[in-house]
Amino acid sequence: MNPPDKHAYHGGRVVLAADNSPTLRAEFQMATSPTASDQPSLQANNGTLDLSVDLAPRNLYHLWLTNPVMVASGTFGYDGYGRGITPDMDLGRLGAVIPKTVTRLPRAGNPEPRWSPISYRQAIEDGECIFLNSIGLANPGIEGALEREAPGWSALNTTVLLSLSGETVAQFGEMAAMTRGISGFHGIELNLSCPNIEYGSLFAHNPALVANAVSAVREQTELPVLAKLAPNVPDVVPIAQAAANAGADALTISNTIPALQIDVQTRRPVLGAVTGGLSGPGLRPVAVAMVYRAAQAVDVPVIGVGGIFHGDHAVEFLLAGATAVQIGSANLADLRAPFRILDQLTSYMVERGISRVADLTGAVDTGARL
Ligand SMILES: Cc1cc2nc3c(=O)[nH]c(=O)nc-3n(C[C@H](O)[C@H](O)[C@H](O)COP(=O)(O)O)c2cc1C
Repeated sequence: MNPPDKHAYHGGRVVLAADNSPTLRAEFQMATSPTASDQPSLQANNGTLDLSVDLAPRNLYHLWLTNPVMVASGTFGYDGYGRGITPDMDLGRLGAVIPKTVTRLPRAGNPEPRWSPISYRQAIEDGECIFLNSIGLANPGIEGALEREAPGWSALNTTVLLSLSGETVAQFGEMAAMTRGISGFHGIELNLSCPNIEYGSLFAHNPALVANAVSAVREQTELPVLAKLAPNVPDVVPIAQAAANAGADALTISNTIPALQIDVQTRRPVLGAVTGGLSGPGLRPVAVAMVYRAAQAVDVPVIGVGGIFHGDHAVEFLLAGATAVQIGSANLADLRAPFRILDQLTSYMVERGISRVADLTGAVDTGARL
C-alpha cells in the first residue's frame, strides 16, 4: 500500500498535524479572508480568526481544512464535476470540494426530469422548501473519473475528496484499491446511500453493512475516510457508531430523504424516476437533529449537510455538534453560495468575538429556559 505523501499538495493551505505550526495557521487566516471591503475585520478577541478544522484527528495524516465550508457531492457545478465554476470563484477559499460520486462502472442516470423545481434559484426566492432530485448517480465510472477528472483537481487549489459508492462490500474495497497511487484528492467520502445488491438494503440502513463497507475501504487506503449516512433510519446512533468503530475518520450527515411529489393536474410524478431524494430547507432540521444525536455518540468529527443556504444555517449545524458543513442544493441556486455562506459564518464569529470556529462545535445551549 502506498501511504499518502506526508507533504502532499493540499492546495498549499491544508496542514498535516505534524506540521500544524503557527506560521501555517497564519496562512489559513489569509486564505479565508473575505475580500469585499464591507466584510468585517478578521480581528476577534484581539486576535485573528482560526477557521481551521481537522476532519481526521485519528488518522496519522489528519485532514486539516482551511475552514469548515465544503461543497457537497453532486453539487460541485451543474454536472457535479465543476461545470459552471469560473476562474473568479477562488475555490482555495473553501474548506473542500467533493466531486460527484463515482461508481465502479459508468452510469447513465435516471430518466428526465431529474430535479424539481426546474429553477432552484427561483424556488429559493419564492421561499420554496421542497427540493427533489433523482439523478441516478450519473457518472463516468471510477476509471473514467480517475483518468479524466482527477488530473484537474490539483489545479482547483483546494482540498478535494473523492466520493465512492459500491454495490457490494467487495466493490467498495476494490474501488478504494484503485485509488492507490493516484493524486488529485486528499481523502475519500463513502456514499453509503446506495443499495447493497447482495442484501437488497441500502448500506446506510444497516450497521453491519456500513461497518463492512468502511472496513473494506480502510484495508485498502490510509487516506482519511468519511462515511456519508442516510437520514431515513430509526436511529442514527448505532449506524454512526458502526462506521466510526470500523475506522471511518469522520461522518457526513446526511444524504437526501426518499420523497415523492405528484402534480395533481397531470397526475404525473414531478420526477421521471417517480421517487427521488428531498434536499434543501425541508431536510435541514432532520439533518441537524441527526448530527446532534450522532455527535454525542461518536468520537470522530461529524460533518453536517442539509439545507444550508445561509451562514446561520452552518452555525446551527456547528452548534448541534458538527465540525464542518457541506453546501448542496444552495450551489444549484447559486454557485457562489459557499463563498457567501463562509463570509456570513465569519461575520457571525466576528460580531460575537468568537475567534475559533472549533469553539462553536457542540455549543448548543440545551439548559433550562429562564
Ligand atoms: C442534484 C443533486 C445531486 C446529488 N448527488 C449526490 C452524489 O452524487 N453523491 C452524494 O453523496 N450525494 C449527492 N447528493 C446529496 C447532497 O450531497 C446532499 O447530501 C443533500 O443534497 C443534502 O444537502 P442539501 O440540502 O444542502 O442539498 C446530491 C444532491 C443533489 C441536490
